Amino acid sequence: MSAPRRPFLAGNWKMHGTREEAARLARELRGIIGGETERDVAVFPPFTALAAVREALEGSPIGLGAQNCHPEVKGAFTGEISAPMLRDAGCAYVLVGHSERRQLFGETDDTVARKLRAALAADLRPVLCVGETLEERKGGRTEETVRRQIEAALASLSPADLERITIAYEPVWAIGTGLTATPAQAQEVHGFLRVRLRALFPTAVADRTRIQYGGSVKPDNIDGLMLEPDVDGALVGGASLSATSFGAIVRYGRG
Ligand code: PGA
Repeated sequence: MSAPRRPFLAGNWKMHGTREEAARLARELRGIIGGETERDVAVFPPFTALAAVREALEGSPIGLGAQNCHPEVKGAFTGEISAPMLRDAGCAYVLVGHSERRQLFGETDDTVARKLRAALAADLRPVLCVGETLEERKGGRTEETVRRQIEAALASLSPADLERITIAYEPVWAIGTGLTATPAQAQEVHGFLRVRLRALFPTAVADRTRIQYGGSVKPDNIDGLMLEPDVDGALVGGASLSATSFGAIVRYGRG
């Protein structure tokens, strides 16, 4: 029996919040979960609010991350931000391959793989997002889809690289829709991802890798999800915009 994985709860704020609103949310969150010692917590504000949130969280255990990065270190890429720039801005984490990036901004498995490498090279901790669309699920192609996504991203990485990566399984049909995967549906895919990780990496490393669930996670469904053996945390969108609800999600299971 391997050591239990430390839960990791993350809030993806997406394109929400002025600097002032973001700093206020960060301060409120700090008031609720600033003493957390047993679980990893991170927030992913928009780029423009990173500095304000960094200041508001200074000295707290709540980590800071960005929502995207460019694969190159620098260059003529108007409008883009590189992984070393995020590191310089105080980020410890970065989301890579979120389904909104894949669906709305044309990110391919290849782009995602390059961004993942860039994030690792900049000493960031990437959260690699994978997940099937409703059409893929209905067509019985869920496993094939997430397998292709993780293999494209992780092939040729070292075990030491994987130690720095968190996987987020986010079924596209559950994101922002209020439709959450049931705990059993989540576990089915998380268990499958675990098996694939073991096929690619030494078992001990695969078994230490955290797999978050994302897609309409709320205070009232987190407990059931976290009971599943391969659900190691959550990537929370909408419910992370309220300190009370994200705080309750971080404190799941404590009554
Ligand atoms: P949601 O978003 O919690 O609003 O469904 C999750 C995500 O996109 O990471």
